[in-house]
Amino acid sequence: MNLNNSTDSNPLIEVRQLVKTFPTAAGEVTVLNKIDAKFYRKEFVAVIGKSGSGKTTLINMIAGIDRPTQGEIFVEGVPVHQLSENELAIWRGKNIGIVFQFFQLLPMLSLLENILLPMDFCNMYTPRQRIDRAMHLLSLVEMAEHADKLPSAISGGQQQRVAIARAMANDPPILLADEPTGNLDSNSANIVFQMFDKLVREGKTVIMVTHDVGQARRVDRTLLLSDGEIINEYVAKAIPQLEPSLMLQATQNLEEINFDAGATILREGELPEKFYIITKGIVEVVLTMPGGSAIVVTELRPGQFFGEIELLQGGKNRATLRAAANTSVCVVALSQAMFSELISKSKAARTALTQLAEERLAENIQARNSQ
Ligand SMILES: Nc1ncnc2c1ncn2[C@@H]1O[C@H](COP(=O)(O)OP(=O)(O)O)[C@@H](O)[C@H]1O
Ligand SMILES: [Mg+2]
Repeated sequence: MNLNNSTDSNPLIEVRQLVKTFPTAAGEVTVLNKIDAKFYRKEFVAVIGKSGSGKTTLINMIAGIDRPTQGEIFVEGVPVHQLSENELAIWRGKNIGIVFQFFQLLPMLSLLENILLPMDFCNMYTPRQRIDRAMHLLSLVEMAEHADKLPSAISGGQQQRVAIARAMANDPPILLADEPTGNLDSNSANIVFQMFDKLVREGKTVIMVTHDVGQARRVDRTLLLSDGEIINEYVAKAIPQLEPSLMLQATQNLEEINFDAGATILREGELPEKFYIITKGIVEVVLTMPGGSAIVVTELRPGQFFGEIELLQGGKNRATLRAAANTSVCVVALSQAMFSELISKSKAARTALTQLAEERLAENIQARNSQ
C-alpha cells in the first residue's frame, strides 16, 4: 500500500460528502453515507469491502451512471453531479472507460464493432481512424485475430480483454472496473489484472473493485468500504486484524493531531492517553539511558503506530516519542477508552498488538543493554 501518494497535487477525482439513499418498501436505505475520497492521476486504487458495502454504488456515482442523493463529484474540476443526462453521456464517453464483471459486450456485434461503438457515439476520430484504432486496441489485448468474431465465440477471459479494449476506445484518462476478474479463472484474472497495471504505468487512473486479496496487495492504494463508509486507510494498514465494523468504529472516532518538527508527542514516564497512528512524517522513539543520555532506538513511519504498549500493559510511557527534527508529523489518534473497547471486541487484533508490544519491549531492553 502506498501511503505517500502525492496528496498535495490536485486530485483527478474528488468525491465530497457523497450520500446515496434508495427508497425501499421498508423505507429509505442509506447505501453511501457522507463519503469523502480523492483519487490522483496515475493511481491504481482497489476498492474492497463485503458484498453490499456500497462498492458498485460508489463506482456508478463516479461514472455518472447513477446520481448522488447529496454531495459532489468533481472529475478534473467538472461537477459531474450537475451535468444533464445528455452532457453526462458525452462526458462519460470521453472521460471514463468502464469494465464490468460480466463483460457486457453487445452479443450481436463483432468484437471490432463493439470497440467502434464508443468512438461512433462520441464522434471521436474519423471513421477510418476508428477502425485503425479499434484494431490497434484489439492487438494490445492480443485479440486482433478474432476481430470479426461474435462475443459468444470467445472465452470469458478473452471477452474481458475485449471489454478493456472497448473501455479504452476514446482514450479516457480514467478506467473504472467493477469486479472485472470476479467471473474469470485465476489465469485469465491475472492477465486482466496485468493489463490494468500496464495501463496505469502508461498514465491511466484505474479504480477497481475486487474481492481478490492478492490483487489488492499489488495496487498503489486500497479503499475499504464498510456499511457505506470508507475506512480510514491508516487504520486498515495499522490494525488489519480488526473486523471491518470495528475499523469503521475506529474511523468514526479518530482525532487528527499535528506536531511541528522536533516536537515531543509522548514523554517517557508520563501517563499514556492515546493510541497513535502516523499518517505523515517520521517519529523517533527515544529512550533515556541509565547514564541520563538519550538515544533514538528506532524511527516510525506512516502506517505505523505507537502508544499500544502502555494501553495494553498499563503503566507509564516506556519511551519518549517525538517528531524527527526535519519533518512535521500528522497522526490520527484514538482515546484510551475507544482503543480498549475495540481491542476487547477483537481477539485477533489484541493478539497481534500484544505480540508487537512484546517485540518492541524486547528491542528496547536490547538497546539499553548494548549501550
Ligand atoms: N437500486 C437499488 N435499490 C435499492 N437498494 C439498492 C439499489 N442498489 C443497491 N442497493 C443496495 O445498496 C447496498 C449496496 O449495494 P452495492 O453498491 O451493489 O454493494 P457492493 O457492490 O459493495 O456489493 C446493498 O444493500 C444493495 O442491496
Ligand atoms: Mg458490487
